[in-house]
Amino acid sequence: MDSAESAGGRLGAVLSAPRTGVVPLSPVGPWVVTTHADARRVLTEPHLFDFPGDVTRSGDLAGSTGDSRSGHTVFAPLTPDQVARGVLVLEHEWSAALDTHDRASPEPYDAMVLLRRPIARSTTAAVLGALEPAHRDRVADLVLEWIDALAPVIAARRPPRRWSRTRRVETAARHALEDELAPLAGAEDTPAQVATLLAAGIQVPIAAGAWLLAWLGQHETGDVDPTYAVWETLRLTPPTWVTARLTTEEVELTGARVPAGRVVLVSPLLLGRSDDLVPGDDPDRSTFDPGRWHDDSRRPGAWLPFGAGPHACPGRTLGTAQLVHLAQWGVDRTISLSESVSIDQSRGIQPSPCRFTASRRETS
Ligand code: HEM
Repeated sequence: MDSAESAGGRLGAVLSAPRTGVVPLSPVGPWVVTTHADARRVLTEPHLFDFPGDVTRSGDLAGSTGDSRSGHTVFAPLTPDQVARGVLVLEHEWSAALDTHDRASPEPYDAMVLLRRPIARSTTAAVLGALEPAHRDRVADLVLEWIDALAPVIAARRPPRRWSRTRRVETAARHALEDELAPLAGAEDTPAQVATLLAAGIQVPIAAGAWLLAWLGQHETGDVDPTYAVWETLRLTPPTWVTARLTTEEVELTGARVPAGRVVLVSPLLLGRSDDLVPGDDPDRSTFDPGRWHDDSRRPGAWLPFGAGPHACPGRTLGTAQLVHLAQWGVDRTISLSESVSIDQSRGIQPSPCRFTASRRETS
């Protein structure tokens, strides 16, 4: 598997920033924060660090539109009932997806494909509540279509023009989803907000689940605690590996003053490699080692894989529960990667390709 340490592009640039405080990647930025204290400030002080509607388009759907000072929607965290419903649907849909694959083909599984429907249906069930399964599945498919149509918009070097085919396909997919959601959205949520919640809550867990399976494919699975495997995945390859804010005035952070109007980046992937946040003695904490969390001297999640502050992830409990279910499935098996996995940076980070075979482990 390719390592983030050897990645090029933006990921490589951010990871190679000296860990001395806040560091500019070029004379005009963006600036990268490298300490936990600065990261928390950037995410939790929105009057100084504004949420940009669309600063790079390189993030993923977790970057909702709107900004915190002019009426940003605060998404309420999912309730325990919603999470329970989502997990129940995932359990059923994950087995169904495996069965369907096994009956149709002897080929290895492709994690990014196999996870699509189970996660989409699980998150849709959690967010929208008691829908007829056929209706839920139609909504889930429309979200997947919108996510797919957004991919080339996000990956494009320059924003595609309004009337380009790419934009038209994306707009049509979004409208189809919003039309379907209009009768379902509650009094407090617009169809566009529900669409954002669903898309963020599907695209990111698919990538996270695929990373989890990729890591388990590289690691001896016997004796692995599923929850620790999830933390290691969200530490080494958090799908939303970087998030941006814009300074509203000159701000002093560790080691430098950042002028007003500059982009400041917070990267859970970079923070997850700091020895003050993660137990262990491997250099740069770059080894996938679930067992390190038996040492409880550090708090899991201190590297902010779900963000913090007003834009923190409202779906973190659902996302974690979905991943723990997959991890439990994975640790009961021997997973073998069919080919080397690379890091696709076109939308957050995704493993590409991520094909694997799985066989149930003999228990003694
Ligand atoms: C493992 C799974 C997940 C991870 C790693 C994750 C990660 C994140 C991160 C880091 C952010 C903050 C982005 C920022 O500060 O710019 C975020 C925001 C968000 N997430 Fe998640 N997420 C996950 C699952 C979910 C789920 C299941 C849902 C919905 C059901 C969801 C919905 C959202 C939304 C709507 C936002 C935007 C919040 C805002 O801008 O106020 N996420 N997520």
